[in-house]
Amino acid sequence: MLKNKLIVSNWKMNLDFIDTKSLLSKLIKISKKKNQNVINVVCPQNLLIPIANKLLKSSNIILGAQDCHEKESGAYTGNSSIVLLKKLNCKYIIIGHSERRLYNKEENKLIKKKVEIVNRHKLTPILCVGEELEIRKKSDHKNFIIDQLKKCIPKECEKIVVAYEPIWAIGSGLTPSINDIREIHEITVNLLLKKIKSVKFLYGGSVNSKNSKNIISESQIDGLLIGGASIKSEEITKILCQINFD
Ligand code: PGA
Repeated sequence: MLKNKLIVSNWKMNLDFIDTKSLLSKLIKISKKKNQNVINVVCPQNLLIPIANKLLKSSNIILGAQDCHEKESGAYTGNSSIVLLKKLNCKYIIIGHSERRLYNKEENKLIKKKVEIVNRHKLTPILCVGEELEIRKKSDHKNFIIDQLKKCIPKECEKIVVAYEPIWAIGSGLTPSINDIREIHEITVNLLLKKIKSVKFLYGGSVNSKNSKNIISESQIDGLLIGGASIKSEEITKILCQINFD
């Protein structure tokens, strides 16, 4: 029985206002049917958050954001504050996604500050970790992930969701084996469970309606972080229904 699986949609910089209305109304419809097995979190780009907040008001779908700045306010042109994301009802914040590490040059030190501020505001950080293909080929991935976790998680941290997203799996159609994911889950909980009250573990990278059931059926995996498939209504609907009506 699949229970309380956390399904996080990362819409990235996709969808406009009309697409958002249409996709959210479909998700709301499913959520009304029978939805005890899924915690459904949707993370749109920031400009869509106010409208998504209105549309989701009386639903059980939870809103999240794809990033936040490490400070609450100040002269940081072009950034978004956690204070406002919180006012707009975002409960989860994705932090350290590999695309932000790559295109915005975010490093572990900065990511740690972001995890810190999300915790301080009593929201839940979804910390992304994952190795490049080269690192996996050298079988260095375990050490790499341990190092990322150590460097990105502050001393004071009440809760965290770790999303294991191997960079080579994102948007590529490739996925690691269940055993590979299990291995990363094990090192993650071994490292974190002693010091953090609430730790959840997600898998992300080329998740679709064909492979989601297999991954999510693994009891140690608390859920999925879904990119490309989360903006295709048929795909995300299938993924959610597989879990709900199992
Ligand atoms: P993908 O993206 O599902 O399109 O591979 C996942 C992610 O980047 O979070």
